[in-house]
Amino acid sequence: MPLLKFSRRQFAKIQFSKILGWSTLGMSGATAARRADAQAALPRESRTAPPGFPNGFLWGTATSAYQIEGAVNEDGRGPSIWDLFTHQPGTISDRSTGDTADDHYHRYKEDVQLMKALGAKAYRFSIAWPRVFPDGTGTPNPKGLDFYNRLLDELSANGIEPFATLYHWDLPQALQTRFGGWTSRDTSKAFADYAAYVAGRLSDRVKHFFTINECSRTVSLGHEYGSDAPGLKLPRVELNQVRHHIALGHGLAVQAIRAHAHAGTKVGPAENAVSCIPAIDTPANIRAAEIAMRELNAGYLTVMLEGKYTDAYLAQAGADAPKFTPEDLRIISSPVDFVGLNVYMPDHYVVAADNISGFTLAPFPASFPHMDAPWLRFGPETMYWTPRHVAKLWNVKSIYITENGTSGTDQPAADGSISDLDRVMYLRNYLAQLQRATAEGVPVHGYFLWSLLDNFEWSDGLEKRFGLYRVDFDTQRRTPRLSASFYRETIARNAIV
Ligand code: NOJ
Repeated sequence: MPLLKFSRRQFAKIQFSKILGWSTLGMSGATAARRADAQAALPRESRTAPPGFPNGFLWGTATSAYQIEGAVNEDGRGPSIWDLFTHQPGTISDRSTGDTADDHYHRYKEDVQLMKALGAKAYRFSIAWPRVFPDGTGTPNPKGLDFYNRLLDELSANGIEPFATLYHWDLPQALQTRFGGWTSRDTSKAFADYAAYVAGRLSDRVKHFFTINECSRTVSLGHEYGSDAPGLKLPRVELNQVRHHIALGHGLAVQAIRAHAHAGTKVGPAENAVSCIPAIDTPANIRAAEIAMRELNAGYLTVMLEGKYTDAYLAQAGADAPKFTPEDLRIISSPVDFVGLNVYMPDHYVVAADNISGFTLAPFPASFPHMDAPWLRFGPETMYWTPRHVAKLWNVKSIYITENGTSGTDQPAADGSISDLDRVMYLRNYLAQLQRATAEGVPVHGYFLWSLLDNFEWSDGLEKRFGLYRVDFDTQRRTPRLSASFYRETIARNAIV
């Protein structure tokens, strides 16, 4: 056999054509490569249009109160469980706190201009419960709510639609002290009262509310592993009860919003659903991935959207199963208007199996790729399968991607530019999968990129930077990264760029 010699470039082209199967389509790899070269040589306006998103697709960015606001002692705000947690030694990797964070409380006008510069049409932020009710319940603090009034007015003046999250983990410390936080259903009830109050006052301008951000993380990291506030490591029986009370809080808040908000206000959860991807795209694996998705989200989306815990969930919990009433399940499954999904990484690749559950979870090799944060596996197809499963399993008609993004390590160059090519690569690949989903009719109506700007990344402190804008935490200077240009162009063209 003659030894063929290829240049690196030729070799890459041949591999590429093999992947796309051009030769089997009757076009040689060389011809196809020539065509691709010819496309690239055309002026931009003559090229084939990039894959687009549906008309009216809503592009936004996301943040949360404790991660950006700072001003923790201003205008009557009460302490939250995160204030106490961050001030305990050994909880935060770089010993930082959210005391100042991005100082957004004072710089919100500047930050709204950052959104505007992107051309973003929507903004997902959270309301700090302890600003509104410093003691968790009782007398509201008008100055606390005023901050959100100012923010909403600023957003409206700049044509940006607000999407408000009611709970992004900053529980008033008073409720932790008084009731043991989410270990008690009194906290679920207090959450509903707070939701009712906020909806009554803000729903003239906020038309979309998210109840609780990532129930599953607050249960596991906050109450099982203790690496998030309130830093508890509960036994399984109590952990299951916390999970139930959080789901109950979601349902009670949905009802409270329906009862107190202006007509037409919409509400739903914002969950980081456990994502289950068919390891290889076969009908049997797809079905197995759907089964896995339903089971592995049993305490969260499944109970919220079906009004029951699955048999397998209850059987597995055994004597440690949560105590609940049929009325609780009815409340938890109060109808929602949409489902918000925080999508970052693949949790599981699923293979069909002839066992009692119908699936197995493929183990991850140590070499599986990840982004800067070690937990953040790179698996863009999760952005296709997660909303697709949710729409199909529970007949959900409206989905928002409430978070997606990555941290990275970059430094400004001498000219001040910041080349975060890893973030651009990540976003482009994830958005391509989102485009695939919308093109197939999966009802995703908007996307909120996490995050507008670097912020306080919980137990990773200020070290993990997720922003389109870099923040110098000494001077509070915001500098756009390359990814900000990427996102601006994506929004302007409503297409992947
Ligand atoms: C999800 C959380 O909602 C958000 O607060 C966090 O910063 C991002 N994940 C990145 O870890």
